[in-house]
Amino acid sequence: KNMSIIGVPMDLGQNRRGVDMGPSAIRYAGVTERLENLKYNINDLGDVPVSRPDEKDHVQDGNLRNLQQVSDSNRQLAEWVDEQIGKDRFPLVLGGDHSIAIGSLAGIAKHYDNLGVIWYDAHGDLNSGETSPSGNIHGMPLAVNLGIGHERLANILDYTPKIKPENIVIVGARSLDPGEKELIREKGITVYSMHEIDRLGMSRVMAETIDYLKEQTDGVHLSLDLDGLDPEEAPGVGTPVIGGLSYRESHLAMEMLSEADILTSAEFVEVNPILDDKNKTATMAVGLIGSLFGEKLK
Ligand code: ARG
Ligand code: MN
Ligand code: MN
Ligand code: MN
Repeated sequence: KNMSIIGVPMDLGQNRRGVDMGPSAIRYAGVTERLENLKYNINDLGDVPVSRPDEKDHVQDGNLRNLQQVSDSNRQLAEWVDEQIGKDRFPLVLGGDHSIAIGSLAGIAKHYDNLGVIWYDAHGDLNSGETSPSGNIHGMPLAVNLGIGHERLANILDYTPKIKPENIVIVGARSLDPGEKELIREKGITVYSMHEIDRLGMSRVMAETIDYLKEQTDGVHLSLDLDGLDPEEAPGVGTPVIGGLSYRESHLAMEMLSEADILTSAEFVEVNPILDDKNKTATMAVGLIGSLFGEKLK
């Protein structure tokens, strides 16, 4: 199978520096070797360019920090991803903060009528300039992909929306802002918060997620924010939230996705080596990637 790795050294979607080194940290933890051992043919395309902001220009267009740089890089990312899918290569995108899901989904969704998305995250990332408490675009990508938000973000590659609310499943949520909860209710988005995961168990949560998406989608993207995991296990993230998913639950989720064989693209985001403990979080990401791509069976 053919796979293309795309790095996005983006840290402008939030205010803690260092997450731009996420792609290097994940490469250093051995992602290519891991996948080559699983018989994937890997083409690492390197990193999408990210420009630096003018020091005085951190907040622009009201409540959207670094809007110009974030939208420019995401447009390029969208083009790269689009091209790889056109060549029948599975795109694996490495972040970078979660604002890069704007570009990856823009490039991916045009290839599907009904793209499913699994959003593995402590957060909903469903804010807009109006509801965001922080102005950080990494808290907005899922809303943007629903067509909610600034048009420079929502209209990348000249179409919107990218995805339908009924094709989204959020897993691991435990920190949702009031505006995000409202949007979840209004749009009927499926959320397995930590409450449901504790009650039902990850095994049932993933079985339901897979059955549900299999029935109604023609492709599935996994957007995995390392802060979905508990900060004890994945400390190298900018917005840690206590009470998260364990190593075991997360590997089980990846193995079930691997067995179901429904994924058509994936991204791993928010690895920040400056905040990490000896590259533990990037190593976690690479381990999860191993399980996601069949390490249990091969
Ligand atoms: N909800 C908060 C905000 O909008 C935190 C978002 C965190 N997002 C992330 N991708 N880590 O600022
Ligand atoms: Mn600065
Ligand atoms: Mn998050
Ligand atoms: Mn996120």
